[in-house]
Amino acid sequence: MNDGFFLASDVASIGEGEAKRVEIGAMLILIYRYQGQFYSTSAFCPHQDVSLDPNNCQGNEIICKSHGYRMNFTTGVCMTDPSLFFPAFQTKVDSGQVWVKLK
Ligand code: FES
Repeated sequence: MNDGFFLASDVASIGEGEAKRVEIGAMLILIYRYQGQFYSTSAFCPHQDVSLDPNNCQGNEIICKSHGYRMNFTTGVCMTDPSLFFPAFQTKVDSGQVWVKLK
């Protein structure tokens, strides 16, 4: 832990435009690399809590395979239904590692 941030991944293991599922304690999150920046969100769809496939990103969105809901992972907004809660976490890079603050 570092200032409330938890170590989530090494930078090199996530290619540009890719996402990866990571476990921090008992929590599953997704880490994204998009246009040189790193982002992180819940690993579950806000519609019916289905596990999201990290290989199903388009641009800055991840798309749930169940019913096609689209979530912007840079903002944590569900574009299909903005009233749904899709948590995005503060994410930073330090010393070649990706760090995530889960609150
Ligand atoms: S469970 Fe993801 S869109 Fe319905």
